[in-house]
Amino acid sequence: MSGEGEIGRASGDLRGVMRRGGFYNLHSAPQHDAASAALSLLSQAVAAVPIATDGAPFVVADYGAAQGGNSLTPMRLAIRAIRSRVGEEAPITVVHTDIPGDDFTALFTLLETSPDSYLRDAANVFPLAAGRSFYRRIFPPASVSLGWSAIAVHWLSAAPAAIEGHIWSPRAGGETLAAFARRSAQDWRDFLAHRAAEMRAGARLVVIGGAADESGDSGADGLMDMANAALQALVAEGALRASEYREMVIPTYNRTPAEFAAPFAGGRGVDGLRLEHGGLQILDDPIWAQYRRTNDLGAFVAAYVEFFEAAFAPSVFSALDPGRTETERQRIGRQFAHKLAAAVAADPAAAVCRWRTFTMLIAKE
Ligand SMILES: C[S@@+](CC[C@H](N)C(=O)[O-])C[C@H]1O[C@@H](n2cnc3c(N)ncnc32)[C@H](O)[C@@H]1O
Repeated sequence: MSGEGEIGRASGDLRGVMRRGGFYNLHSAPQHDAASAALSLLSQAVAAVPIATDGAPFVVADYGAAQGGNSLTPMRLAIRAIRSRVGEEAPITVVHTDIPGDDFTALFTLLETSPDSYLRDAANVFPLAAGRSFYRRIFPPASVSLGWSAIAVHWLSAAPAAIEGHIWSPRAGGETLAAFARRSAQDWRDFLAHRAAEMRAGARLVVIGGAADESGDSGADGLMDMANAALQALVAEGALRASEYREMVIPTYNRTPAEFAAPFAGGRGVDGLRLEHGGLQILDDPIWAQYRRTNDLGAFVAAYVEFFEAAFAPSVFSALDPGRTETERQRIGRQFAHKLAAAVAADPAAAVCRWRTFTMLIAKE
């Protein structure tokens, strides 16, 4: 199994982590919309899962939950559907998993305080957390009945290499792109093998994967070019060291539908897992749609900078020299945001993201 890169990862390591303090929850509308498109698949999944008769709690796993904001709707929907099958008294456990550096405090604060929390008016529902990479085993064997993973499995166990002249793997070429593809293939197999061991017989897993179409387009390459150019400008001005920029990389790989489907090829199961449904979506951009309604360029630019900061800045800026002071880090962050904002304002249409996602319903035999 791969994944050695993140085993033993220090809890202060921010590669892969979303921006903390609840910031991601406030600035993740595109991810929210990606999950919404898969809610009907989640309903199908609950309807198909066999109900255990051994008195064990019905375990729902939310793999890669971040700060929980985008999990509220799918988990509420799942709980209602499960309730209608198991009755009011049966315990339901919801386990939110993520890497150790995740902001679990924001997640549990949200669950306790949000009017939209799935805990409102829900008896016998037990929210728990697991701070462990999904490229490792998280649950005891055959204990999970329903799995959900939204916009998370394109985050690799680690970037296999730096990318010359860029931060975004779809812009890599040659051997570097091949190294990302190999790591991605191994990570996806590892993810599936661990889930296969954790799922009960007949359990279902819904995965919404950040994807690319068959031409390799993720739908966000224009925004990533702008972010990369902003970093290069900071190097040219001496605000960022060339050695720091060279190490900056977002540790993701957007798989094509064929790459997602590869472990299931020929109808063969992966350790007893079967792909019941797999479909590529091209998402609308909610930030662009809002801009078209309001014509408010300032709000559009701010939303895009915040979206980037929420999901990608912790990974990118983890390459800053550890000797940098907090004041320096904050200054570099502000300078970057300023440059990215100027680029988005100059060419709003080029920043628009039409993310590709691949949505899967996976069954355990
Ligand atoms: C873009 S966020 C998506 C969060 C949430 N599911 C949503 O729909 O908004 C990706 C999440 O995957 C998590 N992640 C990255 N690598 C991971 C890994 N190896 N194991 C578990 N979670 C991981 C990140 O920490 C982050 O919280």
